Amino acid sequence: MQNTLTKTLPVKEAIETRHSIRKYEPTMPKEDLLEILRLGSLAPTAFNAQPARFVVIENPELKEKVKAAAYGQTQITSAPYTIVVYSDMEDVMATVEETSHPLYGDEGKTRQRQTFEGSFGGLSVEQRAVWANTQANIVLGFLMLSARGLGYDTVPMLGFNPAQVKELLGLPEHVQIAALLPVGKAAEEGKSAHRHTVERITRFA
Ligand SMILES: Cc1cc2nc3c(=O)[nH]c(=O)nc-3n(C[C@H](O)[C@H](O)[C@H](O)COP(=O)(O)O)c2cc1C
Repeated sequence: MQNTLTKTLPVKEAIETRHSIRKYEPTMPKEDLLEILRLGSLAPTAFNAQPARFVVIENPELKEKVKAAAYGQTQITSAPYTIVVYSDMEDVMATVEETSHPLYGDEGKTRQRQTFEGSFGGLSVEQRAVWANTQANIVLGFLMLSARGLGYDTVPMLGFNPAQVKELLGLPEHVQIAALLPVGKAAEEGKSAHRHTVERITRFA
């Protein structure tokens, strides 16, 4: 179990070498996983709302149960850790003052509360959750590139039953799971990215 934090990839190389991996070496240092989470948590979000939350699955029995809730996808049990990336907008609403920059002091906290009550107070819990999920997906992107940049691999997953995963993890119904993200050292090559050309998906206006 080698700590690779001393060697990091430039962002271009991290992006170009990232592809989904579904077979992993059995272990990785927990400190590296924590660094990936730290880097992911630096992702920007609208109003600095920061609705993303993580559960890291490491327990082998729990992995088996989550694999079953993910239609038997074996990357869950193969990876040393699976990060469950979810958003909890109700937690944001209850504690929104924490997201105001300390530079702005008490006035900033009051303004942040007013902003959130004004923007989200009139929405339903479900509508707020949909918005928060868009923000958690930015974090998901940061996590995948942070992992690759530190020499690790991932596979983002939406193929699971959310209600079952929430129940297994003791998560409240109102949260939205952005993805399951197995993380570890690759034990297979995977395949290179096959993508549309920039010309195919871009126009200048
Ligand atoms: C939001 C999202 C959900 C995905 N869900 C799954 C999944 O449940 N199982 C799986 O094996 N791959 C899943 N993938 C991986 C995609 O199939 C993969 O990213 C895509 O084919 C491109 O390949 P690459 O990641 O190797 O570049 C998912 C990818 C994304 C972005």
